[in-house]
Amino acid sequence: MSNTTEPSVEYVRIFDTTLRDGEQAPGCTMTLEEKLEVARQLARLRVDIIEAGFPAASPGDWAAVHEIAREIGTPDGPIIAALARANRDDIDKAWSAIQPAAKKRIHTFMSTSDIHLEYQFRKTRAEALALIHEMVSYARSLCEDVEFSPMDAGRTDPLFLREAVAVAVAAGATTLNIPDTVGYLTPDEYGAMIRDLRENVPGIERCILSTHCHDDLGMAVANSLAGVRAGARQVECTINGIGERAGNASLEEVVMALHTRQQYYGLRTRVETREIARTSRLVSSFIGVPVPPNKAIVGANAFAHESGIHQDGVLKYRQTYEIMSAETVGLDSNTLVLGKHSGRHAFRKYLEEKGYKLNEEEFQHVFARFKDLCDRKKKVDDRDIEALIAGEMQHT
Ligand code: KIV
Ligand code: ZN
Repeated sequence: MSNTTEPSVEYVRIFDTTLRDGEQAPGCTMTLEEKLEVARQLARLRVDIIEAGFPAASPGDWAAVHEIAREIGTPDGPIIAALARANRDDIDKAWSAIQPAAKKRIHTFMSTSDIHLEYQFRKTRAEALALIHEMVSYARSLCEDVEFSPMDAGRTDPLFLREAVAVAVAAGATTLNIPDTVGYLTPDEYGAMIRDLRENVPGIERCILSTHCHDDLGMAVANSLAGVRAGARQVECTINGIGERAGNASLEEVVMALHTRQQYYGLRTRVETREIARTSRLVSSFIGVPVPPNKAIVGANAFAHESGIHQDGVLKYRQTYEIMSAETVGLDSNTLVLGKHSGRHAFRKYLEEKGYKLNEEEFQHVFARFKDLCDRKKKVDDRDIEALIAGEMQHT
């Protein structure tokens, strides 16, 4: 069965690498059962490709990839990809691990920057090109869907990058993934790199160009979107942006940017956005890393309004301070947080929702005491307000 999709369909493929690059983050390892549970949820999220792991890394990794391929790699499920360095042994292990999947992909990579070639691989550029040709051809002899990544593309001499990508295309790669491995580039530079490859590598129009951006300077999402604007049609990303060092581009941010700014990008994804919040919580609970409250899309404060002015606006018309709805990402609703910045409007709504019935004089009294309390206490909760109301009732 073919993995390729109509080139005319203008959508961006979402390649989730939470179980591979994400799991490489310090302290983010998962058990086989946890990985399976995440993969099930990623299938519900309807990502296009799951990179299930790096089978050559350990027998446990091989087993996890194999199990995910068996259970999640159904004909109408996602493509199951496995990572392999550019050597036969890795490629064989990746290929055997993904065997049970209906749609399989081998993802092989080789560094192309001089700094990696000289200090890490101790290879010349010519040797790197020969290896890319040999290993992409080998992977392609096994699997019709082969992705190649020139690692550290972001710091590779642009002319040599063109050569390396051209060799991979000629050897049969179907997806060319362009990693900013160390998160060094700016959006303008990343977009220009993708555009340059599109315009100067013969045969590249037959392939899908893909982004893979790390977040060392906090630009992974912006860089990925710049890549999409320049013609990339696959984005590699992770749930909650986990990954090596500062992490990868966050899936939820990329997807919701494309969704919310659909008119701007003119593209879509196949992701079921209402599964986003659930997926984020599942990953966070398995790896034991909490999501920061101010994290875009999935942080606890992403749909919470505290200031009186914002609460007033949102109560009158949500779009005054919301560019997307909490329900779109799978939350029950937005929240109005009661704190010292809250106004009468939100406080009255809260009391009504809780079933308290106060006359105007009582309300004004309780509101004044609530404001006093907020100055003394950082967080005011339901119990505090219950106590305020009880106190008011005793007085009247
Ligand atoms: O960041 C990177 O370069 C990678 C490759 C293996 C694709 O993760
Ligand atoms: Zn990476």
